[in-house]
Amino acid sequence: MVSHFDRGSNSVRHFSTNACLVPICYLHGMAVTTVEGVGSTKNGLHIIQKSLVESHGLQCGFCTPGMVMTMYTLCRNNPNPTQGDLERVLEGNLCRCTGYRPILDAFKKSCPCGLNLCNQETKTEDVKSDEKIDVDQTLKKKDGTQDVIFPSELKLNTDYADKSVLFTGEKYAWARPITLAETFQLMQNYPDATLVMGCTYIGYQLKNYRLKSDMVICCTNVKELNVLKASDKDLEIGAAVTFSSLESFLNETMKSAKEPQQRGIRSMLSALRWLAIDQVRNIATIGGHVMSKAPNHDLQTFLMAAGAKLNFQSKDTKSSWYAYDNKFVQNGRGGPGSGEVLVSISVPMLSEDEYLYFFKQPHRRGMDYAIVNTGAYVKLKSKSRELENLRVCFGNIASHPRVISNFGTLDFTKQWTDDVISGIASIIENEFKTSETDHLQYKLTLATGFFFKFYLRLQEDLKVLNGNDRCALEDTINEGFKSGQYYDVPNKEGNIIIHQPTPHTSAQPITTGEAIFVDDIPEFSNELFLAHVLSEKAHAKVISIDPTPALELPGVVDYIDHKDVPGHQTYGMMIKDTKLFADGEVLFIGQTIGAILATSRELARRASKMVKVTYEELPAVFTIDESIKSSSFIPMPYKLERGDVDKALQEAEMTLEGEIETGSQEHFYLEPHTCLVVPKKEHDELEIYTSSQALHEVQAEVSLFLHIPRHKIVTKVKRLGGGFGGKASDTVHNTGVAAIAAFKHGVPVRSTYDRARDLRFTGKRHGTKTMYKAGFDKNGKLSVLHADLYCNAGWATDSSPFVGVWVIMAMSMPYNFPHFRVNSTLCKTNIPSNGAMRGFGAPQGTFIREHIITDIAKYLDMDPQKIREINLYKEGETIVHGNTEIEEITLSTCMDKVKEQSNFESVKAEIAEFNRSKKWKKRGMAICNVMFPMGYPPIVINQAGALVLIYLDGSVLVSHGGIDMGQGVHVKCAQVAATVLNVPLEKIHIAETSIDKVPNTTESGGSYVADLNAGAIKVACETILERLEPLKKKKPDATWEELVSSAYNERISLSAAGYYTPTGRKNYHDIMKNIGPLCEYFTYGTACSQVEIDCLTGEHRLLRTDIVMDVGKSLNPAIDVGQIEGGFMMGCGMVTSEYLSLNQKGFIDQYGPVNYKVPGIRNIPQEFHVSLLKEVKGGGSIYSSKGIGEPPLLLGACVHLALKEAIMAARADHGLNDNYRLPCPATPDKIRLACADPVSKKHHDINEIKKILTTISSELTIENKIEHRRTHSKLEVGPSAQEE
Ligand SMILES: Cc1cc2nc3c(=O)[nH]c(=O)nc-3n(C[C@H](O)[C@H](O)[C@H](O)COP(=O)(O)OP(=O)(O)OC[C@H]3O[C@@H](n4cnc5c(N)ncnc54)[C@H](O)[C@@H]3O)c2cc1C
Ligand code: FES
Repeated sequence: MVSHFDRGSNSVRHFSTNACLVPICYLHGMAVTTVEGVGSTKNGLHIIQKSLVESHGLQCGFCTPGMVMTMYTLCRNNPNPTQGDLERVLEGNLCRCTGYRPILDAFKKSCPCGLNLCNQETKTEDVKSDEKIDVDQTLKKKDGTQDVIFPSELKLNTDYADKSVLFTGEKYAWARPITLAETFQLMQNYPDATLVMGCTYIGYQLKNYRLKSDMVICCTNVKELNVLKASDKDLEIGAAVTFSSLESFLNETMKSAKEPQQRGIRSMLSALRWLAIDQVRNIATIGGHVMSKAPNHDLQTFLMAAGAKLNFQSKDTKSSWYAYDNKFVQNGRGGPGSGEVLVSISVPMLSEDEYLYFFKQPHRRGMDYAIVNTGAYVKLKSKSRELENLRVCFGNIASHPRVISNFGTLDFTKQWTDDVISGIASIIENEFKTSETDHLQYKLTLATGFFFKFYLRLQEDLKVLNGNDRCALEDTINEGFKSGQYYDVPNKEGNIIIHQPTPHTSAQPITTGEAIFVDDIPEFSNELFLAHVLSEKAHAKVISIDPTPALELPGVVDYIDHKDVPGHQTYGMMIKDTKLFADGEVLFIGQTIGAILATSRELARRASKMVKVTYEELPAVFTIDESIKSSSFIPMPYKLERGDVDKALQEAEMTLEGEIETGSQEHFYLEPHTCLVVPKKEHDELEIYTSSQALHEVQAEVSLFLHIPRHKIVTKVKRLGGGFGGKASDTVHNTGVAAIAAFKHGVPVRSTYDRARDLRFTGKRHGTKTMYKAGFDKNGKLSVLHADLYCNAGWATDSSPFVGVWVIMAMSMPYNFPHFRVNSTLCKTNIPSNGAMRGFGAPQGTFIREHIITDIAKYLDMDPQKIREINLYKEGETIVHGNTEIEEITLSTCMDKVKEQSNFESVKAEIAEFNRSKKWKKRGMAICNVMFPMGYPPIVINQAGALVLIYLDGSVLVSHGGIDMGQGVHVKCAQVAATVLNVPLEKIHIAETSIDKVPNTTESGGSYVADLNAGAIKVACETILERLEPLKKKKPDATWEELVSSAYNERISLSAAGYYTPTGRKNYHDIMKNIGPLCEYFTYGTACSQVEIDCLTGEHRLLRTDIVMDVGKSLNPAIDVGQIEGGFMMGCGMVTSEYLSLNQKGFIDQYGPVNYKVPGIRNIPQEFHVSLLKEVKGGGSIYSSKGIGEPPLLLGACVHLALKEAIMAARADHGLNDNYRLPCPATPDKIRLACADPVSKKHHDINEIKKILTTISSELTIENKIEHRRTHSKLEVGPSAQEE
């Protein structure tokens, strides 16, 4: 939170912003409050922090301080926020773990209004022991001393705001003038100087030392640039006015404006509404926005349509330009050397016969740029309502926004007809057909759709709108979220804390920012920072490497590569084919060639880009199709088979063939990979802090890299900021490289990836392609499935063979194919090596299986739900894997409950009616099931250890082999320890996970971490209890502390190691022979989702999701509900928004949270109901609980199935009754084009034109193309491999 004193209003103003966007000099005269200033575990938590803890509004906690500060800032500024305000501020904060629901609940609970204005709708049923939050304890009533006081110095001393300042640094000088005259003087003295305002656009260049000049002139305090005036004629907006100030001003002006003026203001507010996020709007200025001249900037498009004038001034001249003037739009003005500054913008007020509208379609609602934005201005003749003037501006289709004024004769009082569509579409297409942009057909379709919306909106304002087109104007945006969580909690008896909804063990320090993640560990005085030197080619011979330019920089200590590895330099989970450093050949973009060691992270990163590598390029393979074509496979084919598939296919009453593809998915844990390797002075000992889910693997591989035994290498971690499977083999790599460096130099070495590097060059979920043939009868009874599955493994083997097996596992159940055969092939490609990702192949398998069911349903013209129901596995039947017998299956109960909870049958009828009556909006609903095996198939990794130490004050220190990455394993383990020892939970402390406390740990994953480790803790605690038993008998009334003390006096050991192996299976599964039971037990669940699509834009919203899960007798229902909601949202992201693409070079296009679109607050279900099945049949392991981390993710597939239903309804309106194959993920472009209405069909031909253009442009060099895209679509293309 940034605070400053506003002399105009004589008050302190607070705003939230992103630390990464704000240069330190910008903050001159302002106060910054971080989470540490809000509350602390020592002095008491703030109500917001307390509510987050009590509402279980955090998991890994990496996003939590940001959440706290967002809410805190809102409350400091607005004592009476509405639910809408709470939801809006959350648009700027991403959380990968929780699914936002509990965060929203916590915010509602801590809302300072104290009047329930934020409309608490959430239900939590049957929670008997959950301590209720005292809603009266509002911010108003709490002790005011908790709030940080604004420093009086900043209030009293006017110099901070009124005096110009100059800061000089190593690379840049930063001048902050306060008058225009001073600005011109500076510009004259430093002709190359760069002007900055909020720095949100140019900050990237500033941060990476890319500005051409070393003088930066920050104009935010120049008085003449801060004007904000409204008259009957126009609005005058100073170039330094931020979007937030503008929004407040417009809202205020609206109150006294007349109706036509209000129309214009309303329209400008709509252009501001979805422009970035509050954190950006609070500092970004209208001047910076316009002068960035980006193709997709929302307000620029609006201003062009509005006929706004841009007022420039230099030392001696003044000039004004229409925002739509081509001379400005194409060539721009201002910039270094021109001596010119944009001073203000005049936006004309609307008169009686003028109308102005704005439309924008992002990929993700909230925190996203426009795919296309449109501003539309129209002036009609007063009485006749004939068209007098028209200006429609389309942004982000070409390299600059473009205005089209001539759409021929249009009579807005008449209904829109197919002829009008055709005419408008042709004009738009003519204007943009040569644009070099992605998704041209979709963009043109969107543009025509926006024109249509504009037409209707005008008709609405003219009060001539009728007919069933009206629904085109309804929003497809979720707000006013509601939810319910339903579970039983037993009454708490004594110290029995299992089955209670207890918050995470570290919840409090996480909310206060006291919790330590690896990169928070304070620096050692002699520490070096490491940055990797990355391959810029997908497949090439490395001809030469010259680190000299990097080594010449003062502070750069060394360059290391494969020659510095004393031991082995290859590793791998199954096959050791992963190289620590490339050696002569690179196999993907981003592969580590070497590494730079320097005295600071900035220096190391900068220097790593200066290492000169020359390559000889070799042919590369990226996709599954390319790999099949060139037979590029990892030689580990796998087949799972039962029955006689060929015969069954021949005998089947009916057969159906199809092809199904799933996309990749990035883990997007919020904490990037990081490690700190600390060499000890003696015996080659190393202490390694690593953000890893696999401490044992890191220890084992580092031991081989360094050629020292494992007992000298201690790997440890306190917590992870999310893992999701992505912090296994990739942490071996990062930590391995740092260990080589630390060992060579004998000093601590730290290596932390930046977001772009982590997102682009680490492994992901495998993309898949499946060709299947299924056999069934006319009633939908399944008899046989044959499929050929291809998984894109990337450049190395890693865990891909197991992932392939797990895709097949999910294809094979819960529907019974008596005859079943799937061949899996792993494609070897030149992309990062894909590995574990939450669900481990099962999400892909679930997607494929459920789509086979819907394909068959479509073929038979049946309800897919019927097919699901009649083919569900039953008690006593055996699954394909090792003929494992099914016991205690609850899936049909889950399905019945979900149908009941979601009112499935009546909603289905409502949806059918909705789809009949709405032309441009369609709805769909679908159900999906999960049957997830728990307990690893390979016998050896089903083991865990724990160490329990009891001290003489009765406190208990527990160490175990599991790593808490947000899934709550520590609190579950603490609950088990407290319950077994019969002590209060406060007596238990869970230590960091460290390989010197528990050796040979199993990687934390597979939803089985609590099962194994709590099992080991239970054993250890029971061992100690056994020892204490005789003492207890002697002194039955002794307190725990007395008992412990007596034990010590009697010389009874108060520590025990526990070792646990599950005992449910007599023998284990052999994957290759397909014998032996697959698992210990199954977790079951069913989800039902309802969606609505906008057929004109392709946007969708998730109306409602109901989930019923059988998690056995949950160890901690609040944690499990969190896993279900968060997991489901991750699955939902996989099938809707999380699109990954490669450019022709093999370079992953996505590099950050803006262009890799994990779900945000607006993407969660409008209503989200989660129930834990009460009718559990038992099963599970520890206290009859079941593993839960991964299964709910698989249920996300139901959103895709529901979208497909909605699309089919839209297609049916246009006479198409086919089985449309909706791609995965179903992004807005895919949904929009699938609707196949006259508009999208009209633009279909553009694909042909595009093909021709692609051929022509392939003659450009790749570098030119990238440069071209960089300049023409600035924010679509991120830094290169060597950039950040
Ligand atoms: C996370 C994020 C999300 C975003 N989402 C959206 C979105 O959804 N829609 C959208 O439209 N935009 C979006 N943006 C872009 C945002 O609108 C721009 O970054 C912002 O408007 C730039 O304003 P600024 O004050 O920060 O400009 P700066 O970065 O300070 O400056 C930008 C450019 O303008 C020049 N300049 C600034 N002022 C003047 C002047 N007075 N005279 C001459 N030249 C000048 C500077 O030299 C520089 O070249 C987003 C940005 C971020 C970081
Ligand atoms: S709790 Fe939000 S990212 Fe983990």
